[in-house]
Amino acid sequence: MGTCNKSEMVLSIVVMVVLLQLLPPANGQDPPQCNFNQKPPCPPTPTGLGHIVLVHGAGQGQWYWYKVKPMLEAAGYFVSMVQLGPSVTMAVDSIENVNFTTYSQPLFDLMECLDHKVLLVAHSAGGFNIAVVMEKYPEKIQAGVFIAAYMPDTDHNMAYVLEQGGKKNPTDNWLDTCIMTSGKTTWYFFGDDFLRSKLYQMCPPEDIALMQTQKRPGSFFINELAEIQLTKEKYGSVDRFYIVAGDDLCIDTDYQHEMVSNFPVKEAKMVNRSGHEVMLSKPLDLSANILDIARLYPSVFEIAHAAGDASLAGSVEMRAKPDFIQRGAWWV
Ligand SMILES: *[C@@H]1O[C@H](CO)[C@@H](O)[C@H](O)[C@H]1NC(C)=O
Ligand SMILES: *[C@@H]1O[C@H](CO)[C@@H](O)[C@H](O)[C@H]1NC(C)=O
Repeated sequence: MGTCNKSEMVLSIVVMVVLLQLLPPANGQDPPQCNFNQKPPCPPTPTGLGHIVLVHGAGQGQWYWYKVKPMLEAAGYFVSMVQLGPSVTMAVDSIENVNFTTYSQPLFDLMECLDHKVLLVAHSAGGFNIAVVMEKYPEKIQAGVFIAAYMPDTDHNMAYVLEQGGKKNPTDNWLDTCIMTSGKTTWYFFGDDFLRSKLYQMCPPEDIALMQTQKRPGSFFINELAEIQLTKEKYGSVDRFYIVAGDDLCIDTDYQHEMVSNFPVKEAKMVNRSGHEVMLSKPLDLSANILDIARLYPSVFEIAHAAGDASLAGSVEMRAKPDFIQRGAWWV
């Protein structure tokens, strides 16, 4: 009898403890209100080796850097991903008021608030966004890295490389992609066949499934780009690198080589057998190439050392070893 009472008591205490856990938190512990219109906070001055900014292409999103970002971080870099577009979720029904400027605004906001230099890395049509930023903020940029990207030059307006590229890719390449026109702007919404066979043909099926949940309208803003002329003095004065993607069926691999020969870069690299979405199909090779470029520029520690900053100098011994990332280990 007595043992029975005891175990009932233990049981009721357990039940009470569990119920208490389910009660809402006491006043004063409420979570903060969401504010989706707030600009993301300005990134702090990095304490790692440097700061790398990743910019996505048309109809894509920051999510697709999810394999590359942790690798660059593991190598000691501070990494920012930018989501272009005026809203966190740019929907099909909200494109009327979006133009090249408002679309690029999140990147402008980031550059505006920085107090240090960054390595700007762009994929595909993101090349247009970083080119404009290199023109606007040349003093804040170590180099611009174009990955399977449109790379405008200083002899033609910005739409030129798009028009030349369009001549190589016949329009039936768009397959089941649909097109919307809003004012002067044409928007594309990738079809699943197009994604599978032209953009993501070398990606794991999981990444294709993930992309299908993340589709958003994309535009090249060709009419607006035709009005923009970049200068030798600003854009042209910043170091440029190109990483060519092999077997690219979207921005033809040969055309990527052609852009490099027409407007030479400091160094061109290549990732073979990757297709257009090289950050998903060959993240390790791509990260190794980005790190090779990043290491050409003085690290935050070296800058602090030169300036005699005693507070940072002590940490130099703890510097990450970027070389520990080996090419061709997994995901190959
Ligand atoms: C882009 O859109 C914004 C907001 O609607 C507008 O203020 C701006 O003038 C537009 N820019 C161009 C070049 O059309
Ligand atoms: C990529 O392929 C080209 C030939 O198509 C070859 O010359 C080059 O060495 C390859 N690069 C790498 C990194 O394997």
